[in-house]
Amino acid sequence: MPSQRPFYVTTPIYYISGTPHIGHAYTSIAADALVRTARAHGPARALTGTDEHGQKVANAAAAAGMTPQQYVDSLAPKWRALGPEFDAVFDDFIRTTEPRHQHTCLALFERMRAAGDVYEGVYEGWYCTHDETFWPEAKLVDGRCPNPECRRAVQWLSEKNWFFRLSKYRDRLVEHFRANPEFLRPQSRWNEMMAILEEGLEDFSISRSSFDWGIPLPGGGVLYVWYDALINYISALGWPEDPDGLYARFWPGMHLIGKEIARFHTIIWPAMLWSAGLPIPARVFAHGWITADGGAKMSKSLGNAMDPFAMKAEFGADSLRYFLLREAPFGSDFSISMEKLRQRHNSDLGNDLGNLLRRSLAMLQKYRNGLVPQPTDGRVSERVADLPALVNEHVMCLRFREALDEIWNLVTLLNRAIDEQKPWELYKHERLVELDALLYDLCEGLRWLSLLLFPFMPSKATEMWRQLGLEGTPEQPWDEELVWGRLAAGTQTSPGAPLFPRIEPPAA
Ligand code: MSP
Repeated sequence: MPSQRPFYVTTPIYYISGTPHIGHAYTSIAADALVRTARAHGPARALTGTDEHGQKVANAAAAAGMTPQQYVDSLAPKWRALGPEFDAVFDDFIRTTEPRHQHTCLALFERMRAAGDVYEGVYEGWYCTHDETFWPEAKLVDGRCPNPECRRAVQWLSEKNWFFRLSKYRDRLVEHFRANPEFLRPQSRWNEMMAILEEGLEDFSISRSSFDWGIPLPGGGVLYVWYDALINYISALGWPEDPDGLYARFWPGMHLIGKEIARFHTIIWPAMLWSAGLPIPARVFAHGWITADGGAKMSKSLGNAMDPFAMKAEFGADSLRYFLLREAPFGSDFSISMEKLRQRHNSDLGNDLGNLLRRSLAMLQKYRNGLVPQPTDGRVSERVADLPALVNEHVMCLRFREALDEIWNLVTLLNRAIDEQKPWELYKHERLVELDALLYDLCEGLRWLSLLLFPFMPSKATEMWRQLGLEGTPEQPWDEELVWGRLAAGTQTSPGAPLFPRIEPPAA
């Protein structure tokens, strides 16, 4: 498989005043599975962080009796810990209150102003502080915020602000969307954005003068929080000076976002970048929502959020990661419950995968003292020749579920080989050549599984690798390691504890 150009994926930067819930963990886990797969083929980088400005944060800080800076500093550690809790390892974590970010924002603002796209005007409109969004009068519902899960009171703002000539970029955006269907996936979101573009775009205000918790502008006022937030994707790479060459290597990258923020990422952000003469994101994927029973989006404000830490405590990070990426296509909404998690944990992971490892290594122990036999060109090798390319293709196109379906075909194939060839009978009838061939296929198949599953379940895949008697970890270049027959004869395997111990439902 050819190695790819440097790959860069980002999550949205999370609102610092929120509480990490399963929806945030979902995006971070998906970004991690993606970047780990990309890394098996070449250089790759992942970014996450926190969105720390805006009136909502200033209000919350005041309510807590702190300065905004003290308040955000007190909250940042729990967001920084979110990824690592679920084995999602990011190369960088950006906070919008960092000087490096402020520097990039002002540089971009200046570029856009120099391009003639930023002008002064008076902004009057309805503002929802909770969503940090302006709404046109016509969109209000009963005079309140039209976001169905917000519906809070809006306030009338009238301020002298800087405006961005967004309207100028409408035709170019339409052309870009038409020429690049892959720019925004899935199709439903692409359609939605095209409908917005067809209605026409209005210029919008990118600064605020009524409060000061934001990036200060030289002539007074602060940057609008969404304008500031979007820029994180390049401030973390060091634009414009690019001291470490990260921007030159990794931009343009790919954004993973929830579907509710597609407009910001695929209309406003590209227009900002074009205005500054910079390349726009290569791809944006807007995933679905994790919903509570009944279909409502899970969110702290709705009071229906599930705590990812409690789920991890019960099932382990890998089982949760597997569930989230296997349960539904990445672009769709889906609901989650402890019962559904338990079912997948016990059946897919415990019965299918865990038992395959346990049975295979137990038989190898019994019949061959745990030593891997000579490589064979058995029946399995032909069947899996295309598997790495297929899995890679699915993951790179955000089809995590389909990638796992393909990997599970190998799990099923190996389990079926045991059931059909009955190694205990081969042993009994001294058909040792056949027995060795089967045992080799099982061990080599399991080695492939640990390489292919590493992006999804890094710690369980590493445990499989260890039980197979291999050195290091399954974080390896696929084109070198996913070659049938690389598992050396004579490797001493070392069976260990079950990978996915059964989890019983709580007693009624
Ligand atoms: N700060 C903005 C993003 C700025 S990006 C330049 C923001 N933050 S947020 O804290 O509300 O996080 C939003 C992201 O969290 C969503 O886009 C999505 O990735 C994730 N999720 C939050 N709740 C979710 C669900 N219930 N389901 C799935 N993901 C959701 O918006």
